[in-house]
Parts: sequence; structure tokens; C-alpha cells
Amino acid sequence: MSATETLSAVASEFPVLRRQFDGRPLTYLDSAATSQTPQPVIDALTRYYTHSRASIHRGVYPLAVEATELYEGARERIAAWLGSTPEETIFAANATAAINLVAYAWGRQNVGRGDLVVLTEMEHHSNIVPWQILCQDREAELAYVPVLADGQLDLDALEQLLAREPKLVALVHVSNVLGTINPVAQVVQRAHAAGAIVLVDGTQAVPQLPVDLRALDADFYSWTGHKAYGPTGIGVLHGRRELLEQMPPFIGGGHMIRTVAANESTWTDLPWKFEAGTSQIAEAIGLGAAVDWLAELGMERIRAHERGLVADALSRLAAEVPGLTLHGPPEAAERGALISFSVEGAHPHDVGEILGREAVCVRTGHHCAQPLMRKLGVAATTRASFAVHNSSADIDRLIEGLERVRAVLAL
Ligand SMILES: Cc1ncc(COP(=O)(O)O)c(C=O)c1O
Repeated sequence: MSATETLSAVASEFPVLRRQFDGRPLTYLDSAATSQTPQPVIDALTRYYTHSRASIHRGVYPLAVEATELYEGARERIAAWLGSTPEETIFAANATAAINLVAYAWGRQNVGRGDLVVLTEMEHHSNIVPWQILCQDREAELAYVPVLADGQLDLDALEQLLAREPKLVALVHVSNVLGTINPVAQVVQRAHAAGAIVLVDGTQAVPQLPVDLRALDADFYSWTGHKAYGPTGIGVLHGRRELLEQMPPFIGGGHMIRTVAANESTWTDLPWKFEAGTSQIAEAIGLGAAVDWLAELGMERIRAHERGLVADALSRLAAEVPGLTLHGPPEAAERGALISFSVEGAHPHDVGEILGREAVCVRTGHHCAQPLMRKLGVAATTRASFAVHNSSADIDRLIEGLERVRAVLAL
């Protein structure tokens, strides 16, 4: 049995994949928007709500101690899985909140008038808008590393921007539109040599690639639970301890303080200094279960499986669907598990709607990447994204669905 066939068996662990729409089995190709949930994660959430629910860190009774251990145990396993430490692993609401934490807490302390912040043209809005707000507030400048025609970053242009000694470089690890896997370790090394701090948006990378934060050496690395087979409502920020210690809190309230007097407060230790209010207890426990599940399957195996699917899909889409333009790097080796494309003469919304009638779920729109859409010269694209449960049968159904699109729209 090939790696692809052995992994396809995990489809049975996703209850939602047993659903049918108008008698058609679900073909879920939208994991880059949100992944489906495997049974062990559902079980971990149910166990917390049915057996172990209590508020954490405050109660001294056994049920509260158990809930605290489940929450902090999840943090420890999540940190270890990516090569981070519990103190440097902060739970946030999602990736967007994690990036905003850095833009507010680090940014307002370190970025001032006339400073430069460098982004790339392939960023998701969540890694653009917080920096726009910061730069407008601080009268700082934003500059973008261009994307080349082959979907790669223009590293010469990055070099020129680094010569201007930016305060921060923020870039995506795997583009949610082009699929491009950016050379993050190389960018971090160059940016550090230029004296810049680096934030990496690892939202698409964490569920798709083996990620070793020690090897990447980024100062901040953010990702989101709901795209990594975990619950919604939880994201993670990994940060370098020295930076996190120097940063003021982002959100104030209960749980993040050491002492509160009438007019001032002092802050508690990492990571709780950045976790004000009642934590996402169930969500963290669920994400811990997702990480256990991914670790058990093995990220190398998952990457091999999804890379095989992307290679097949790239060549079959190009060969079998007339009038199709593929966006992003031509080789599966340079891509994560997603493919954006345009069908000549068809609006992506119509493509998505007709595919939807066939129970083939894809994402259409600007993918929260409007600057990149402008660069590509399109208003929107259609995106098929692959996960551990997909198989070549899903590619068959995508191609059949696109034939149907062409027939319905008389293309
Ligand atoms: C590359 C990338 N970054 C950030 C995000 C934002 O994730 P969330 O909405 O969970 O904060 C997404 C979600 O689509 C994404 O694809």
C-alpha cells in the first residue's frame, strides 16, 4: 500500500465525511478555510464537558486541578511538538488575535515615527491590517516584498528593503492562495543580520508541514487551531522569551496580573501575562488532542500524502480542464496542500456554486488577500485545498465537477 492509500483510511475518523448532499457523498476540499474534526478531538472536547469541566488555575478542589492539568498538559505537548517551550506558547483566540498581540504589545513599544515594517504581497489580511493600524498610529512606513510570476518571493527586493534596516519583517510560511512555501529560515537569517525582528504566519504551514521552530528561529510564530484539525476559537503565538518578557500585556484583566492596587498592577509570569480572562479551556484541550493525533500520524507522512495529491491534481487539472489557469509555483515540492485556479470565462462564485451542487466543497473569493488578487490581476479565484483524509477519488470528483461547470456555463 502506498503512503497515500494508508493515510486515506483516516477518512473514517471524520464523522462529517459520512454525510451526503442530495445523495452525493461529501468531497471536502476546503481544509485551508477550516479543517474537519477527527473523532479523537471531538472525544477530548466531550470528555472535558462531561467529566472534567471546571475553571482553571483558581480552584483548589480536585476537579479544578484536573482541568488545569488538562489545559497546561495540552500547552506542553503543543509546545514540544513544534520545538517551543510552554512559557513561549501563548493561547489566543485565533491566528489573527495572535498577530494583533504582537502588533500592539511589541509594535507599540518598538516601532516609531519613520520606522519601516516589511510585509510581503502574499499576506493574508490578518498579517496586513494589524501592521497598517500600527504604522498609521506610529507614522511608520509599510513596504511589501513583491511576488514574482512563479509565485515566489523576490528575495533580491527583500535584500534591498533589509538594507533600510526595518524594525520588523512579517511573512507567511505557506501562502493560503498560491500555496508557496516560503524559505522562512533563510529570510529569518537575513532579517536578523539586518537587525529586524521576524514574525511568521504559520497558519497554513502547521497542519501541512513538519515545522521545527528551533530550526526556523523566528521571533514570533502564529497559527490557528481550526485549520489544524482542532476546535474553533483557539490560536497560538510562539514568541522568543526575551521579547515576551520585555513586552507589556496586550489585554488587561483577570488571570494576567500578579498584584492589583487602586492605580496600578503588576504582571504575572509567561505565558499567562498574555492570557487575560477565563482561558479557552476546552479549545486548548481539543487542540492538544489534535496535535497528539497529528503527531501519531506523523507530519512527514502527512506532507508526503498531501504533496502526492497536489502533484496529481496539478497535472490533471492542467491536462483535463480546458481554459484553466493555475496560480502559484508549478511544482508540488514548492507548494503546500492547496491549489488556486481561474476558469476562463467563469466567475469563481459560479464555479464554487456549481461544484457545491455536486457536493464538492471549494473556497471562492479573494481569500482575505486583496493585495495579492490585485497583483494576480483577478478579483477572486477558486481554491481547492487538501487534507489528510483526501484521496485521488476527491480529485476525480473535482475534475468531474469542473466538467459540469463548463457544461452548465456553456464554456
Ligand atoms: C495564511 C493565513 N493566515 C491567517 C489566517 C487567519 O486565521 P484565523 O481567521 O483563524 O485567525 C488565515 C485564515 O484563512 C490564513 O490562511
